[in-house]
Formats: sequence, C-alpha cells, structure tokens
Amino acid sequence: MDFTPVYIASFPLDSFVDFDLFIKQELNRFVLYRSKELPFTFEARERLLYNKIDCLYIQNSDKRKYQHFVETNLTSIIADPNIASPKKANILYQASASMMEELLEKPELGNIERSASVAKGTVEYLLQGRQSFFNLLTFSMHDYYTYSHSVHVCTYAVALAQTLGITESRMLNELATGALLHDIGKSHVPQEIIQKKGPLTGEEMEEMKKHPDYGLHIAETTDIISPLAKFPIIQHQEKIDGTGYPNGLAGDEIHIYGRITAIADVFDAMTTNRSYQKAQNFYDTLKFLVNQRSSHLDMKLLMEFVKLLGDR
Ligand SMILES: [Fe+2]
Ligand SMILES: [Fe+2]
Repeated sequence: MDFTPVYIASFPLDSFVDFDLFIKQELNRFVLYRSKELPFTFEARERLLYNKIDCLYIQNSDKRKYQHFVETNLTSIIADPNIASPKKANILYQASASMMEELLEKPELGNIERSASVAKGTVEYLLQGRQSFFNLLTFSMHDYYTYSHSVHVCTYAVALAQTLGITESRMLNELATGALLHDIGKSHVPQEIIQKKGPLTGEEMEEMKKHPDYGLHIAETTDIISPLAKFPIIQHQEKIDGTGYPNGLAGDEIHIYGRITAIADVFDAMTTNRSYQKAQNFYDTLKFLVNQRSSHLDMKLLMEFVKLLGDR
C-alpha cells in the first residue's frame, strides 16, 4: 500500500471523514491511527500536536476522497487562525489542482459547481494579504498541465485585480471562477492535440482555437457561472490590437476580466515547462511581454502586474 501525507490542520474538529487515517512509525511502517467511523476530536488533535506530529497519512487510493473532504471544509480551514498561512496555501493549492483535474476529465454540472466553491476559497485566502499570493506561488507546479495552469491563472488574475483596487468579494469570486475555468473548453479538444509534443498542424490549430467557444458552451450549461465569469473563458485569447480569437475584439471591447486573464494566461504558460520549451524565469518573461507583446496585452494592466511580482 502507498500512502500520502495530509496535514492534521486540514481536519476541522469533530469532523467525520470517510477514509482511514494512518500514522507513520519508524522504518516507514504505517499503522492505522483512526478508522473512518471515528470523529476527529479536539483531544486527538492536541495529543498529536503535543507529540509534534502535524501530518497523518492516507492510502493513495483515498486521495480523491480526501480532496473532496478538504474542498467542502475550505472556508473553515482558510479562516482558522491556528493554521499557519503557508500550510493553508499548500492545502488550498492541492485541493484546487485536484478539483481542476477531475473537472477537465468530466466537465459536468457537479464539478462546475465545485469550481465556484474552490474559486471562492482562493479569494478568501488571497484577501488575507499580499503574502498569501506569494505563499501560493511557492507551491505552484513547475511543469505545465492544463489543471495546474488553470489554478495558477486564477491566482495571478485575482492578485492582479486586487492591485487594481478590485477588493469586493463578489467581483473577485466571479473573476476567480472564470479564470479557473478559462481553458475548460480544452476538455472538448481531442487529447492527441492537447498532448502533442511538437508544433500543431494548421488543422489542429483550428481545432485548438475553438476552446474558448467550447468553454463558453460548457459554462452555459449551468446558471452558476455568472455573466462576468464568462469573460475570462471567451476572451482570454483576444488581443488588444484585434488579432486574437475567437471574435477579433480590440482594446476596450475586451472586458477587463478578459484582459486580466490574458496576462495571467500567457505569463503562466511561459514560466512553466512545456514539452517544446523550458520555463523562463519571471524577470525575463515580464521583460519579453513588455517589449514584445505590447500590442497584444493591456499595457496599463501589464505594468501593474510587473509591480505586483516585483514586490516579491
Ligand atoms: Fe486558453
Ligand atoms: Fe490558458
């Protein structure tokens, strides 16, 4: 059996979990600590922390069950003053990435609802201060996968919106949900195109370019996705000079949520490892975008993004 560590902090007190928890002993032996029908009590947590144990283990086969559990408790985990902020970032990042992975596999109603609640959790965490943003960045994966990319784009987009003075939760939640879902349409693009290592043929490119429309179509299957949250999905490939797709919109015709998401999108794509290109560092990427992509991106927003990352 293989095991995965989980933070004790991710279990709200007296919560019931539907998976067994194990403790690691010497020589990598895993012993059952708490079977699934027992609640996680205050005393149990104190006893573990007293013994300087802040991690328990779950069987790998229970990973998704665990992530679902974390997801439903995200708000209380993020609000808990007893959990250190970097730990919250780690728990939130794992939960978001795992949810997105499932959603891209199955872009159906229940999973789309989950994305809105994970987006809300991300906003709640990012509203706790600038350091939250940097904490989330430290857990970001270095290789490019559509699911982790989606989580990163959401983080960058919300942080950029905050620097622009957008601080109302409702506004940020809508942006976060849209940014998280910006590439959801890729779930309708054939896998051999998504995973192709070399450059795409003209025909494959045409299919790939349909992903904003596919995404909008998915978003429109539910009324959970508000009109504002649709802008990141349908407009993140539009360019300021009107050369983008799918609608060739220019300048202010692109909603600010579309322009924010476009910056977050290209920045993350360049700073993670792709099959055909190694990740660039933050500094070189920002320099490239300012010098070479000024006709594609909203320069005013891009300069705010430079300042945001410069604070690091
Ligand atoms: Fe995209
Ligand atoms: Fe993207």
